[in-house]
Amino acid sequence: MIDRLFKKKDISAILNEPTVNRGLKRSLSATNLVTLGIGAIVGTGIFVITGQAAAMYAGPALTISFVISALSCVMAGLCYAEFAAMIPVSGGVYSYSYTTMGEILAWFVGWILILEYLFACSSVAVGWSGYMLSLLNEWGVDFPHQISGATFDHLKDGSWVWTGKIINFPAVFIVAVVSAFLIGGIKQSALVNNVIVVIKVSVILLFIGFGLSYIDTSNWVPYIPENTGGYGSFGWTGILRGAAVVFYAYLGFDALSTAAGEAKNPQKDMPKGILISLIICALLYIAVTTVLTGIVNYKDLNVDAPIALAIDRAGEGLAWLSPFIKLGAIAGLSSVILVMMLGQSRIYYSISQDGLLPKVFSKVHPKHGVPHNATIFASIVTGLIAGLFPLHVLSELVSIGTLMAFTIVCISIVILRKTQPDLKRPFKTPFVPFIPLLGAAICIVQMVSLPWSTWERMIGWTVLGFIIYFTYGIKHSKLNKK
Ligand code: ALA
Repeated sequence: MIDRLFKKKDISAILNEPTVNRGLKRSLSATNLVTLGIGAIVGTGIFVITGQAAAMYAGPALTISFVISALSCVMAGLCYAEFAAMIPVSGGVYSYSYTTMGEILAWFVGWILILEYLFACSSVAVGWSGYMLSLLNEWGVDFPHQISGATFDHLKDGSWVWTGKIINFPAVFIVAVVSAFLIGGIKQSALVNNVIVVIKVSVILLFIGFGLSYIDTSNWVPYIPENTGGYGSFGWTGILRGAAVVFYAYLGFDALSTAAGEAKNPQKDMPKGILISLIICALLYIAVTTVLTGIVNYKDLNVDAPIALAIDRAGEGLAWLSPFIKLGAIAGLSSVILVMMLGQSRIYYSISQDGLLPKVFSKVHPKHGVPHNATIFASIVTGLIAGLFPLHVLSELVSIGTLMAFTIVCISIVILRKTQPDLKRPFKTPFVPFIPLLGAAICIVQMVSLPWSTWERMIGWTVLGFIIYFTYGIKHSKLNKK
């Protein structure tokens, strides 16, 4: 029995399996992968969280937080790049774990990835709804109150209440639209994503370029505000807490690894896609934070739309940029949903190919070449969750799922270098085991510092996952049938 649970897949067998990625179209170029990465990364983090993190934890030194957070993501990114080039299939970390740690742990990882992408998608859809409603309001459109927010809320005392609303309709709407594009085919989705990325990066560059001349350097003094007592409120500990908070802004590059099965030349292009998109985003974030904290004093930045506030503060000269910022944010969030949804459907697809989820999820549409059933299922679940629950309940679970996946990827790199040193590795993480182990350690420290309530939900999710595995997966596993 124990042998069955920990049975590992052979990497060469995965790569030679006739069924692997059968039907999926390999049409993504290196540029597509970089833009998909940027599409997934730039979102709520920079448009919302930056301001709050500067105001509450790090002040102008949030730029240092962004550098620290980028370094930890690059460590995980290097490990992802090694795996994605070595095992270029759709399952991402799930497939990597199947080869290093065996079936039951791979199932656990797959289940955690579903958690990450499901809740990332639904939380960003709720954020999209907020921006859209505020834009509609600005245009004088009176959107029906009953369908403009979550149905339920979770109060501080732990109880659930009905908010009096029916559903968050805009959130459900954007999930449905994005899914329709994904079902249309990967090429079409990549094209839509490219357009969105051009819009959002242009808006950010306009803000940086035109904002520079409105900087008042006295806002950067003191650059590292003095600690106000307690861990995390300014000073160096504030910079560290800021780094943990803005970690969210970098998420998304990992979802890119699930598109490896659809890349034209994954061995060469996946590492490029992951690392270049991560570095471009880090540079954009550092520049935005520098300009933002230069125009507005950090103490005033605890608002929902910090970049819009900076434009208002700059006065008449920058007023023309204001509608573009909202548009950029709305477009930006749509592509985050797109890539995370892509990731979610590809995980269902890969797990189902191995027999651990029903076969229906691995059917590929004969014309569009995408796993359409998996995409439809992902969109129904994501739409329901986004429509029913508020942002704060959804976003908590995203970080813990991602950190756990990063830790597993980093550790797996070290294991595989020991157990299968001769495998062909088109891209190699430098300084192994130092970089992967440091990457894993940073992720573990961040996980430990998350609130207990997040851990409780995580445990609940894990138990549900094992119930599904022991009642369905173990009986239908293809590996165990062999
Ligand atoms: N990195 C993504 C965002 O900031 C999750 O929205």
